[in-house]
Amino acid sequence: MTAPVCRPATKADIPLLQEAEALCFPRDPWSLAQLASHMDSAVGRAWIIEAEGALCAYLLASVIPPEGEVFRIATLPLYRQKGYARRLLSAFLADLPLCYLEVRASNLAARRLYESLGFIQTGVRPDYYQNPTEDACLYKKNDDTHIRL
Ligand SMILES: CC(C)(COP(=O)(O)OP(=O)(O)OC[C@H]1O[C@@H](n2cnc3c(N)ncnc32)[C@H](O)[C@@H]1OP(=O)(O)O)[C@@H](O)C(=O)NCCC(=O)NCCS
Repeated sequence: MTAPVCRPATKADIPLLQEAEALCFPRDPWSLAQLASHMDSAVGRAWIIEAEGALCAYLLASVIPPEGEVFRIATLPLYRQKGYARRLLSAFLADLPLCYLEVRASNLAARRLYESLGFIQTGVRPDYYQNPTEDACLYKKNDDTHIRL
């Protein structure tokens, strides 16, 4: 297998991203229209890791400097636990002083990923998610090394 490549997603990737959403977030996948709207947004960011033409992992986020917010990060089941999500999120965080995200309380894999990259839990939003109803854990990463005095 050729080395996986990390690159910004384009509108041509939207159909594959939608298929990935259906696989990775079967309870609430983003639609084609939502993905298109995200890609059109001036603050929207979308990155993918692909290998041999296959979409392996992706990240959907927004940036309003100096802050970022992660909406989605997912690795296709076949490619999990190979470091792809860590690579995507690390690259997104590289020049970002402040980043927020929220995640289902039961999503331990994602929470471990976030905590391993320095995210701190700042709160809980009770019953935030539906289908099934579940709390959201709010996370923040504040990289003091970016502060310019
Ligand atoms: C969460 C998810 C993105 C992790 O992707 P991944 O590419 O497999 O993760 P990585 O291989 O980069 O792992 C990075 C770290 O995440 C944590 N992690 C990943 N999978 C884990 C698992 N099954 N159980 C526990 N921790 C896990 C570990 O801390 C891991 O570091 P380590 O390998 O040093 O132990 C993936 O499981 C996924 O796509 N889940 C479905 C979508 C989702 O829930 N996304 C998050 C909410 S938006």
